Amino acid sequence: MLRRGLLVAFPTETVYGLGADARNPAAVTAIFAAKGRPADHPVIVHLPRRAAMAEWAAEVPPMADALADAFWPGPLTLILRRAPGVSDAITGGQDTVGLRVPNHLVALGLLREFGAALAAPSANRFGRISPTTAAHVEAEFGDEVAAVVDGGACPVGVESTIVDVTGPRPRLLRPGMILEDAIEAILDVELEVARDHQGPRVSGRLESHYAPDAPVELVTQEHLTRRLDDCARQGLRVAALARRESLLDHLHDVIWARMPDHPVQYARVLYAELRSADDLKPDRILVELPPRTPAWNAIHDRLRRAASG
Ligand code: TXA
Ligand code: MG
Repeated sequence: MLRRGLLVAFPTETVYGLGADARNPAAVTAIFAAKGRPADHPVIVHLPRRAAMAEWAAEVPPMADALADAFWPGPLTLILRRAPGVSDAITGGQDTVGLRVPNHLVALGLLREFGAALAAPSANRFGRISPTTAAHVEAEFGDEVAAVVDGGACPVGVESTIVDVTGPRPRLLRPGMILEDAIEAILDVELEVARDHQGPRVSGRLESHYAPDAPVELVTQEHLTRRLDDCARQGLRVAALARRESLLDHLHDVIWARMPDHPVQYARVLYAELRSADDLKPDRILVELPPRTPAWNAIHDRLRRAASG
């Protein structure tokens, strides 16, 4: 199917991707049509092996080598200068390209059998929550994709960390579960953190990305029970994602998901829980804000975007 230019969704360790032959511009264009994504947004190229980097990047700076050594295969996307011949369909017309080698047996098996790179954004419609199971992809696209390869639930659960290594200093474009500290430890320099309005167009950095249909409200732990009471008084149907048992006292008419205390486990279930909550068509989704430590950065980033939808 991929060789015929069709779209095949597949699991990665982060989220499911909507894959197409990265060397077939018509196939890549079909991704944009299926997602309803603006054509000037670049997509990530998934490589079967690290050596393929040289076919896609005009140059591989030492920083990129060091990060690939440390984290590939894995949930890290590197932004590099594109090699001649990399199509505008992939790069959104920019002179850079995003590359990663995913750390998932099914993704790697597919990539190696295919024998070449796959362009794959997350397999969701533009602006919606990324899918972490094959059933989520089916719910997004139904028959519009040629196939969905079912590899079970994605173990990481949120999208890859994106680091731009085209400049003199590395820049974090999207936080992920490979943490800033870990990257800085490898490079021995401080990461610049891109502000949302700077730099190239990156759809993952639009404010209202990763949003459910229901309004999402982020609430600090100390305000959560009061907010639940307010909503109950207003007759609002609430779904709550929270991290403590004491909430059980406030559960009249509240649909509740107990979220894990550890960020790695929290990230793994976040999108599935947001989808389940949204499927109930509540008036509000209340999410208890997690701690502010760096291990939670990617989760805070996604929650903030879900809430600004
Ligand atoms: O974990 C992931 O990265 C998943 C899985 C499927 O690999 N993919 C993913 O793709 O999240 P997508 O397209 O939903 O988000 C990729 C992000 C987008 O925000 C895109 O704009 C950015 O990567 N990106 C891709 N190429 C870029 C480039 N040349 N410069 C800046 N940003 C780029
Ligand atoms: Mg996406």
